[in-house]
Amino acid sequence: MAKKIILSGNRPTGRLHWGNYTGALENWVRLQDDYDCYFMVADWHVLTTALDKAKDIRANTREMILDWLGAGLDPERSVLFIQSEIKEHAELYLLFCMLISMGRLERNPTFKEQVRDLNLAGEISFGHLGYPVLQAADILAYRADAVPVGEDQLPHLELTREIARRFNHHFGAILPEPEGLVTKFGRFPGTDGKRMSKSLGNTVDLAAEPDEIRSTLKTAFTDPQRLRRNDPGNPDVCAIYTYYQKFMPQEAELTATECRSAERGCVDCKQRLADGVIEVLAPLRERRARFAADPATVDDIVAAGCDRAREKARETMDLIHDTMQIG
Ligand code: TRP
Repeated sequence: MAKKIILSGNRPTGRLHWGNYTGALENWVRLQDDYDCYFMVADWHVLTTALDKAKDIRANTREMILDWLGAGLDPERSVLFIQSEIKEHAELYLLFCMLISMGRLERNPTFKEQVRDLNLAGEISFGHLGYPVLQAADILAYRADAVPVGEDQLPHLELTREIARRFNHHFGAILPEPEGLVTKFGRFPGTDGKRMSKSLGNTVDLAAEPDEIRSTLKTAFTDPQRLRRNDPGNPDVCAIYTYYQKFMPQEAELTATECRSAERGCVDCKQRLADGVIEVLAPLRERRARFAADPATVDDIVAAGCDRAREKARETMDLIHDTMQIG
């Protein structure tokens, strides 16, 4: 039986951090065992909200692909590709633009939030409003059955399903309605205890060198009520404890106990975590470094991925042309 198809993507904003890893990438690596996977660098999507970042897109794409390969996305099994290399997405996007109302796009909660948070009122591009339509094209160009995403992306997936339904209704039932596979490890704290996010400057890169991991963890957020070494702490509000749960789960329980009883101080606790994480992430760092030292191989991987993606997207477009009797 043919495997189900998965597509997911990430905007290239530079190196990935621990939050990106636990929230998505690590899950993608596992999904490769059971699905035909397409993983896409969503470079056009960067332009919808950050035109000024255009000049960094190629360099950031490279960094992200290295993070993907380092983390274990396997080009033998998965298709790693770049959105802007597959022009079929643009054609499908254009067609989908006819299937969705302006009102529906304006009601998209992600859009409303961005307009509010980025202070964009009056400065919104047509492309920004159409962001989820392009995302629907990304997904449906591969007739994906499922899309691993964070919870924040579920409204976009709902829109994708609506577009598929409408297409099927008007022209003929050829598009699946993909389901979302929501990643379980919920909110991942940054080094200041708030959600880990590049814009908050509280990240640790997946590719961080040992020294960098040590120095970043040294100043990371712990229980603010624990002022003195001998005060008992509360691991449940401590970022360091979440990092234990994530990267050294076998030590998490002991850590919580020794924190609550003040047997272990924060300085020791952080050092121990740093040692552990440095070791756990070493294979990823080393694999990344091997690819980084061999740019020709990375070029080949990306070129081959784009070829495979294009082939599949063309197959879908042929179907679409036949069904719509246009193009
Ligand atoms: N919108 C996603 C994000 O902000 C990126 C993305 C673009 C995507 N196209 C996609 C995710 C298709 C899943 C499927 O990260």
